[in-house]
Amino acid sequence: MTRRARLLLLSLGAPVASGAQERRATVAVLGAIPVEVELLRARLQHPVVRTIGGIEFAEGLLAGRRVVVARVGVGKVNAAMTTTLLLEHYRPRRVIFTGVAGALDTTLAPGDLVLGSYAAQHDLGAWDARGMTNATNDSATAITSNPVRFPGDTLLLRVARTVAGARTGWHVREGGVLTGDVFLANDSVRRDLRRRFPDALAVEMEGAAVAQVCWQQGRVPLLVVRSISDGAGAKARETFAQFVRRAAERSSELVTRIVAGVPASR
Ligand code: ADE
Repeated sequence: MTRRARLLLLSLGAPVASGAQERRATVAVLGAIPVEVELLRARLQHPVVRTIGGIEFAEGLLAGRRVVVARVGVGKVNAAMTTTLLLEHYRPRRVIFTGVAGALDTTLAPGDLVLGSYAAQHDLGAWDARGMTNATNDSATAITSNPVRFPGDTLLLRVARTVAGARTGWHVREGGVLTGDVFLANDSVRRDLRRRFPDALAVEMEGAAVAQVCWQQGRVPLLVVRSISDGAGAKARETFAQFVRRAAERSSELVTRIVAGVPASR
């Protein structure tokens, strides 16, 4: 059955075969909080929503491409659970995480965009008298060990650079995105993260968890895209409240363009 025929049948409420092949989405887009996925969900054409394990997965066409959008909730465990369900049930070719982040680099301002050259869990490792050290960690899958840094997909990065470069007024940087189970609002911890990961630009709470599941389950290509909502320092809570919506929408805007720019054959 062609994609068009299937979407037409689904929009009419007609029963359709739903083998794994039929459900294969080209790109999956994940976000953590409602404002990070609302715009993308609103833009879906012929949306079909399915609830799996309590999580809503919205399938449809975005910029002419078949996508599935889901909100994972906040933090690494929620992100890992939803990514596992996503890969099992939709088998996307690529995954993009969209949302907001705290800036680790003080030259970044609210609304600036960060493309994750890698994602790493800053809170996974050993904490001794000298402080925190990150190390590779064991996996129970056939992949015996996880790297500290999960690389961003080269194709998605290339497309993202091109589409972002074509848009005037956006400041886009490429660098590491750090993930941990904390909202960071502390200048000395922010400086310590920069010392441990000098090329990291942003901190958030889901990206590397999604990256690790994608890595372990067949190296599914992933890109973390984040827009800055705050400076991860003492004023982070107030700045976050002020900029979260604008930043989340800007990230959604870039992700829509990335989805449109991914070659149909890939
Ligand atoms: N997401 C947005 N801002 C953040 C921060 N300061 N710490 C962790 N996650 C964030």
